[in-house]
Formats: sequence, C-alpha cells, structure tokens
Amino acid sequence: MSLQYFEIVGGKRLKGTVRVSGAKNAALPIMAASILCDGEVVLHDVPDVADVASLSELLIKLGVEVERRNDTMRLRVRDEMNCHAEYDIVRKMRASVCVLGPLLAKRQKARVSMPGGCAIGDRPVNLHLLAMQKLGAELELVSGDIVARARRLHGAEIFLGGPFGSTVLGTANAMMAAVLAEGTTVIEMAACEPEIVDLADFLNACGASITGHGTPRITIQGVRSLKGCEYRIIPDRIEAGTLMIAAAITNGELRIENCRLDHLMAFLDRLEAIGVHVDRNEDASVTVSSARRLEPTQVTTQPFPGFPTDLQAQIMALLCLAEGNSIITEKIFPDRFMHVAELSRMGARLHKEGPTVIVEGVKRLIGAPVMASDLRASAALVLAGLCARGVTRVNRIYHLDRGYVRLDEKLRSVGAEIERKEGGEI
Ligand code: EPU
Repeated sequence: MSLQYFEIVGGKRLKGTVRVSGAKNAALPIMAASILCDGEVVLHDVPDVADVASLSELLIKLGVEVERRNDTMRLRVRDEMNCHAEYDIVRKMRASVCVLGPLLAKRQKARVSMPGGCAIGDRPVNLHLLAMQKLGAELELVSGDIVARARRLHGAEIFLGGPFGSTVLGTANAMMAAVLAEGTTVIEMAACEPEIVDLADFLNACGASITGHGTPRITIQGVRSLKGCEYRIIPDRIEAGTLMIAAAITNGELRIENCRLDHLMAFLDRLEAIGVHVDRNEDASVTVSSARRLEPTQVTTQPFPGFPTDLQAQIMALLCLAEGNSIITEKIFPDRFMHVAELSRMGARLHKEGPTVIVEGVKRLIGAPVMASDLRASAALVLAGLCARGVTRVNRIYHLDRGYVRLDEKLRSVGAEIERKEGGEI
C-alpha cells in the first residue's frame, strides 16, 4: 500500500475563506438508499472522500450504476441479482452495513458481512438486526455473514435504544427497510442526528411517507415503490467544527461557507465557553475567531443534539492550550481515546480515567512524528500540528482521507504550512 503523511510546520495563523463539503455521514446512507429506488437518483454535494469511493465500489457490485462528475453523483439500479456485501469492503468501511435494510426491503434477501470492531471500540450491530427481525426478517449467521430473508417486510414497533443511547446507522437501516414494508412502522428512541433527517427527507422526495424524523419517534407508512429524485446533501457539521477549531487553535480568523449552525448548537455552546467567537454573516457564512486566552471547560459527548463524539478528539486538541484543567467525557464510544497517547507525544498533559480525560492546559504543544489511528483522531493531530512549535509529521493519513475532502489543500489555502508527502510507516 502506498502511504502518505502530512508534514506540518506549526504556528501560522489561519486567515481567509473556506467552504465545507457535503456530509459524508449523510451521503453514505442516502447512496445506499438508491437500492430502493426504481428511477435515477441524482445527488449533489457528495463529498469526494475515500468512504464514498468504497461505498460506490460496493454499490457497483450490487448492480447499481454509479456515475460521478465533480460533486454530483448519479445512481441507478441495473441488476438486482447480487445481494452480497462481502467482507473485503465491509472490513474497510463499517458504514457498508447500511445496505442491509435496502437490500432486504427491495430484493427480499441480503447477505452482509458482519462488521468487526474498529479503532474506536467494539461497535456491535445487534440493534440493526433487532430492527430487521421486528420487521419480519429471518436471520442467520453464515461464515461471518449476516444472511437475512423476508418475503415482504411488515410494519412494526421498534425500540432502538441501547446502553449508549440511540443508534444512527441502526435507525437508518430500520427506516430504509420500513419504507417498503406493508403497514406502519414506529421507531422509538430513533437517532435524531441531522444525517437521519437528511435521509428521511431524501426518501420522502422519492415517494416515501415518513414523519417525525428529527425526533426520537419516527413513523413510517410503507409504500409499494420509490422513484428516484434529485437531492442536495447537507453540509458536513463535523468538517465545519474541525475548521472552526483550526481557526481558534491558530488564533486566526476564518470565514466558513456552507455551514449549518443549527446542526452545531452543543458544539457552539462549548466554543463560546472556551472563548471562541462564531458570528453569522449576512451571506449565511460564519466567521470564527478567538480570544488569545482560552478558558478550560467540560465536554460530554451525547447523541444529537448533544455534543458530537465525532468532534471529541478535535476539541481535546484545542483544550490542551486552555489556561486550566478541562474534563472530557465520552458517552457514545467509551474507548474512543486513541489520540490521547499521540497528543501526549506533542507535550499535551492528559490523564485518562475510564471514559474521562482530564486535560491540563499547557502553554504550547511541540511538533513530533505522530500516528493517526482513526478518522477524527487524525484530525485532532493535524489541528495540534497547526499550532505546535516546530514540525509535526502525521502518519497514516489514509484515515483522514476517508472522511475529509482534501483537508490539506483547504488548510493551505488559508495559510497553513502543510504538505502531503509519500512514505511513512504502516
Ligand atoms: N450500538 C449498539 N448496538 C448497535 C449499534 C450501536 O450497542 O446495534 C452502540 C455503539 O456501540 C455506540 C452507540 O450505540 O456505543 C452509538 O453508535 P451508532 O450506531 O450511533 O454509531 P454508527 O451509526 O455506527 C455513526 C457515524 C459515526 C458516529 C456515530 C455516532 C456514520 C457512517 N458513522 O456511526 O461516525 O461517530 O454515528 O454519532 O454515520 C465518523 O464519521 O468518524 C464516525 C465514526
């Protein structure tokens, strides 16, 4: 595998305008939902990231014609024979599990490799399976694959809460399976994330009958078929949050376009507590700047509308520089702390106790070679590198490329000294 790394010379104040791409975590389930549609689906603002490319590859194997031009993607089902999402792809990208619901609903069977754990924890799929069973599917496990069958799914009442709250992709799977089921389905303790709302809006535009999305109770009236539609993916709230922190951590000023502040309320609340200013401009962009002094604070990740787990690593990088002690608690993925050891190599003072990290603010971080472990941890290391004294080398940036559209180019365009280079350790 050809590896790449980032070399970052820290200490440059970022200044300028940058645009947020479409949301990866909205685009993936919506692309999978094209399996349900009889007509052509045209999606705008599909981010050009590796996870989208992996899902395209899987959809092509499942008989979907996928055509991409710039940020517009056209999808149309050509052949419904293959229903098998193989280990090779699911292993690379857990989100491929979201073809389970659409395959089962449209093709009456699905064979999806059971996703394993990953760098952020165990990540079970028991709630996805429970939803399929409630809707009338028969399930078995064959050579590590989930094999699901049903003649026609029927409406059901499904409670989708687990020990860590609701499930985002589980809700997506249940919703996609239920749209073509006979009768009414009610999903209780459904995920309220904006990406779920986007999926429901997309399905409704294709002819589905979904209400209550954005609340913990979603009601789906099954319909016989879905047509295609033309649809624009929402902006990526996690990329927006990452760019806001990039402005704050370099004591810079960024104008960020294509940013939905209503998707970032809990995050904005914490930024304000830290002393970062976010102002909405008349043209719907936002301007982010920060006071020189960063205040310490407490952050607890929660399902939406709480503070997103996908911004936990990045805000930790920022709080490393606050004047005092902060407390970060992870309530979604209690083991999602691979960045702690790497940030410590850059001079951060972090004390981990179970799902909580106490961040003792330091005057500065110091550049070092560090290893990215997962997507958001990589982003935290890049942010730390932007403000560190000296050179930071972030290895294994293929993790970052899974979910950020050319982050290096975007940061360079606003003044960061960051280079993508070939090489690095596996
Ligand atoms: N869970 C269960 N059983 C299940 C499913 C989930 O116990 O069947 C637990 C998980 O272990 C976790 C909690 O429920 O403790 C929430 O997990 P969830 O199912 O919501 O996560 P996901 O749907 O697999 C999506 C995003 C993640 C994001 C989480 C939480 C996509 C493609 N992935 O994952 O994004 O962290 O929701 O918001 O939408 C990322 O983009 O870096 C990323 C990891």
